[in-house]
Amino acid sequence: MSPITDTVLAVELNYMTGFGNDFQSQALPDAIPIGQNSPQKPKYGLYAEQINGTSFLASRHENLRSWLYRIKPSVLSCDLIKADYPDFQTRPFRVNYTKPLPYRWDPLVTDLNKSVTFLDSIITIAGNGDLASVRGSAIHLYAFNQNMQNQFFHNADGDFLIVPYRGNLLINTEFGKIDLKPGEIALIPRGIKFNVNNLTDFCAGYILENYGPHFRLPNLGPIGSNGLANPRDFLTPVASFEDKQETNQLIFKASGQFFKAEIEYSPLNVVAFHGNYVPYKYDLSMFQVINTVSFDHCDPSIFTVLTSPSELPAYSNVDFVIFPPRWLVSEHSFRPPYYHKNFMSEYMGLIKGTYEAKEENFIPGGGTLHNQFTAHGPDSNAFNKASNEDLTPKYLANTMAFMFESSLTYHLTQLASVTPKMHKNYLSCWADLPKNFRT
Ligand SMILES: [Fe+2]
Repeated sequence: MSPITDTVLAVELNYMTGFGNDFQSQALPDAIPIGQNSPQKPKYGLYAEQINGTSFLASRHENLRSWLYRIKPSVLSCDLIKADYPDFQTRPFRVNYTKPLPYRWDPLVTDLNKSVTFLDSIITIAGNGDLASVRGSAIHLYAFNQNMQNQFFHNADGDFLIVPYRGNLLINTEFGKIDLKPGEIALIPRGIKFNVNNLTDFCAGYILENYGPHFRLPNLGPIGSNGLANPRDFLTPVASFEDKQETNQLIFKASGQFFKAEIEYSPLNVVAFHGNYVPYKYDLSMFQVINTVSFDHCDPSIFTVLTSPSELPAYSNVDFVIFPPRWLVSEHSFRPPYYHKNFMSEYMGLIKGTYEAKEENFIPGGGTLHNQFTAHGPDSNAFNKASNEDLTPKYLANTMAFMFESSLTYHLTQLASVTPKMHKNYLSCWADLPKNFRT
């Protein structure tokens, strides 16, 4: 395998701004009908097709749907053939390999000696809930070096939140093209066909497959009307289409099973669309960090980018939380995260740099899992350093950690539980915590 060079191909794309807007975009003039959604004869001989992301009776502020005007509708005229992606798993898993202990891993794949596509590379490491009850999520990793040439993915089971830590991606969706680099995230709602190409030699990252309600921005409470992730910084692609006679393979995932079919045209044949059920991207550096300016360490909810609620008020299905570069100014305080055990289960990943509570043995592409009421906190080194540091204002630079935080316990897959990349000695990071008690 040749050394990874990370040569970035130039891609110039256009986006519309806003979160949950009623977007409209057309690649040909007047392709969106005026005054109605489904005219008898749409312009250019297009087919009108609606995709609904919520039930029809969802309240207006939660109702998600888009209208697409496309060269061919999504209906298939051929049967599906079973496909097999054994490492890409769906909840519920058959066997529980999980102990109520903290877990930590190195990146599972750091190099490839063969050609692998995004879809072929997906490995599930943990999951919770049950997609049939529209509750829970799965955590996957990807590491690939090959375009999904003439292949497209259609996932009916969950929304894909893609979090790259290595390499630049080009995501081709029915709604247009999204370029993505480490430090950005992309969300592809379920039911939208897409493929992923690599703009650099080697691409790797995390995926959260959300079975539950679609992500939304968290309420801001006393913060007011601005702050955290601001709606205008979310970007949705403009319409672009392909009109090709060629054989393409569609891979379907439904109820955890995989199927494939061949079509003789490009599924990226949407000339225009309007609606609020759309893919989007977000640059995490746009997140306005709000934190203490007096004392103590705030709860991680202050760093929530997106939240998927559950049927229980105050028990999120899953939150996406980041720990970005920021000033640390608290006085007479232990500044890193305090020791804790929470109702919420926490899977942490690292996009770049180091994480303040574990500066060693937690690297980009790695992960930690601290499930419900599993005690954790700073390791011995971090505790000793933070207990004795000079509490002048400091800028925490070169860091971008994130958390998938859920009110359900994450269960490991067999692969995640037996991989040699799991740190067998993780618990020893707390072994040297001294007994400081004295009277
Ligand atoms: Fe934690």
